[in-house]
Amino acid sequence: MSVSLADPIAFPRGPGWRNRIALAPLTNWQSHDDGTLGDDEYRFLTRRAEGGFGLVMTCAAAVQKSGVSFPGQLAVYSDDHVEGLARLAAGLRARGAASAVQLQHAGSRGNPEISGEQAVSPFAYAKRNVRALTTAEVEQLVRDFVAAAVRCERAGIDGVELHGAHGYMLCQFLNAEENNRDDGYGGSYRNRTRIYREIIDGIRAATGADFQLGVRLSPEKYAYSTDEAIAFAEELLGGGQLDYLDMSLWDSFKLPDESGYHPARLVDVFGRLPRSGGVRLGVAGHIFSSKDAQDCLDSGADFVFFGRGAILHHDMARRAIEEPEFVSKTFPVTRDYLAQQAVGPAFQTYLATGWKNYVAD
Ligand SMILES: Cc1cc2nc3c(=O)[nH]c(=O)nc-3n(C[C@H](O)[C@H](O)[C@H](O)COP(=O)(O)O)c2cc1C
Repeated sequence: MSVSLADPIAFPRGPGWRNRIALAPLTNWQSHDDGTLGDDEYRFLTRRAEGGFGLVMTCAAAVQKSGVSFPGQLAVYSDDHVEGLARLAAGLRARGAASAVQLQHAGSRGNPEISGEQAVSPFAYAKRNVRALTTAEVEQLVRDFVAAAVRCERAGIDGVELHGAHGYMLCQFLNAEENNRDDGYGGSYRNRTRIYREIIDGIRAATGADFQLGVRLSPEKYAYSTDEAIAFAEELLGGGQLDYLDMSLWDSFKLPDESGYHPARLVDVFGRLPRSGGVRLGVAGHIFSSKDAQDCLDSGADFVFFGRGAILHHDMARRAIEEPEFVSKTFPVTRDYLAQQAVGPAFQTYLATGWKNYVAD
């Protein structure tokens, strides 16, 4: 029998969540230039906890300075970041939500004007002055992901998610066309996925038995085949090391680009993958109503992420649970409306400038 959105969910490690709805990681420009937590980011996230989300995840937070790509981006590369994260952990827990920080390095998409450092990636990209990491730097990157997770644990955050999706650093390692490194971190599937395994093992070794760990992957458009994305998802779901896999599908209900999978939609393709040891599957992408969310659970996902709907409604989780006919508003909306949803001025500006037709004024 299928589960419903209101059902609590347990994981191999860390706290159970009060329901099956997670806040998707959302870059929002609302922290300080040094990466410490800003008041508007705190307000944005704690309002979502008040709005009923089972898990509240932060935006992509940088694990190294060279990995910063946005102004006002939360960071976790220094002990100076721990105090703000501790405030966030306490604020979310007091409101009944589990907490996670999304750990990220932007790779070739790092912004030197903001970070003050040259962008780095698994392979050089001369056009944008991006240099390839040395092997020693790859090993340091692994250690810095682990150190960032340890800082989150020290701050009282319940867990972390590795941002392995959307063409940023970890996803760049997966690139089958360009990641031809010959130092064991490129070339074959095993070698291109190796950095994920090393970070996962490192975090497991360095954190406690109740620290929650997830990985985000995206299956299409990032220069590896859907077959390979499925194989990697299956490996992670079956490996017993993770608490959840977060498949970022952009449109969960879309047919895969590769027609061999049709008529299964993306959510069906990943929803039917076997899992073991209690590892859970979450899906994100175009889930804008109670019915969309239930469709994902019926198709095999264990929980769903709301992204844009949760920007538009701080209480989208509660409403999706309580109102079976609930459908999110759509963009564009006014700055006044966004302010009512605890979306501060910096996030409003990001939505107005980084995305098309999101803000009407
Ligand atoms: C404004 C904005 C910021 C985002 N920032 C992140 C991010 O920091 N990390 C990430 O993995 N995905 C990010 N995403 C993608 C979302 O987490 C989510 O997967 C995507 O929006 C699809 O879900 P939705 O259709 O419910 O919005 C962002 C999306 C938006 C609209």
